[in-house]
Amino acid sequence: MDRNLALEVVRVTEAAALSSARLMGRGDEKACDQAAVDAMRKAFDAVRVRGTVVIGEGERDEAPMLFIGEQVGCGDGESPEVDIALDPLEGTTICATGRGNSISVIAIAERGKFLHAPDTYMEKIAVGPKARGAIDLRKSPTENLRRIADAMGRYVEDLTVCILDRPRHEKLIREVREAGARIKLIGDGDVAGAVATCFEETGVDVLMGVGGAPEGVLAAAAIRCVGGDFQGRLKPRNEGEIERALTMGVKDIEKIFMLEELAAGNVMFAATGITSGDFLKGVRYTGDGAVTHSVVMRSTTGTVRYIESHHRFDQKPNYGW
Ligand code: FBP
Repeated sequence: MDRNLALEVVRVTEAAALSSARLMGRGDEKACDQAAVDAMRKAFDAVRVRGTVVIGEGERDEAPMLFIGEQVGCGDGESPEVDIALDPLEGTTICATGRGNSISVIAIAERGKFLHAPDTYMEKIAVGPKARGAIDLRKSPTENLRRIADAMGRYVEDLTVCILDRPRHEKLIREVREAGARIKLIGDGDVAGAVATCFEETGVDVLMGVGGAPEGVLAAAAIRCVGGDFQGRLKPRNEGEIERALTMGVKDIEKIFMLEELAAGNVMFAATGITSGDFLKGVRYTGDGAVTHSVVMRSTTGTVRYIESHHRFDQKPNYGW
């Protein structure tokens, strides 16, 4: 994968962020999502790849754009053929209500290297590089916290665990509290929560709990780039979701997917903040333009680039805002 592609891809997440952030806090989830999707789709037309969306907005019949199987990019025969996992607006409710941590995100891998995750739930555990190899979804949260603390040279009491604030996590939250760790509950956005574990300045050390399976693949792609660790196990809610997983190529529903099984080979990850979070600042409008904060990273080199872009609306092609 061409390293210049990284910068091209950031333009795409920036476009989606700029478009959806305009609608922050206006209570209209559908409009936020639509704005992000439209802008991302349009911006993809300038990216020189032959891309296939493998994690996207859903099936062709339910998503008019960026659906699974859609071809994106303006690449020709010379351009790389890649698989693309994306979420134009990860944290729709957050953006619509003006809360923190929504991002626009794209991950790219060589053909066939992402798990084709069905739109169901996934039990997840994520940690940063210091705790790589210490996690095991077969073990209890308490045991995992002990192992992570040991690997990081800390007390369990010093760990902060990020968990989606959901009734389904009542037991998990009780156990983490009993183990003595600190908890950061988030309303939405467990991609940002998982990626935050890889960046010490966020203060988040572990992500635990059940969230979206496609979001699990996106998080795994980012974590691959920075050398953290992640495991996921599908949690289908009904027979229909099990069927769907099997038709998408999952052979064993109970399987625990390791990091490299979710996102293998050369992987690239880009994200732009929409509303401010631990990991990225949100879009700030300035009158004649806007400022965005993005990150781009590649597994080949492990380089992490933060990009602060100052956009001038009078001089820039219109992405749809
Ligand atoms: P959306 O951007 O699709 O709204 O997803 C937000 C999110 O919080 C994800 O980060 C998370 O993986 C998933 O929803 C959790 O699902 P649920 O809200 O059903 O618990």
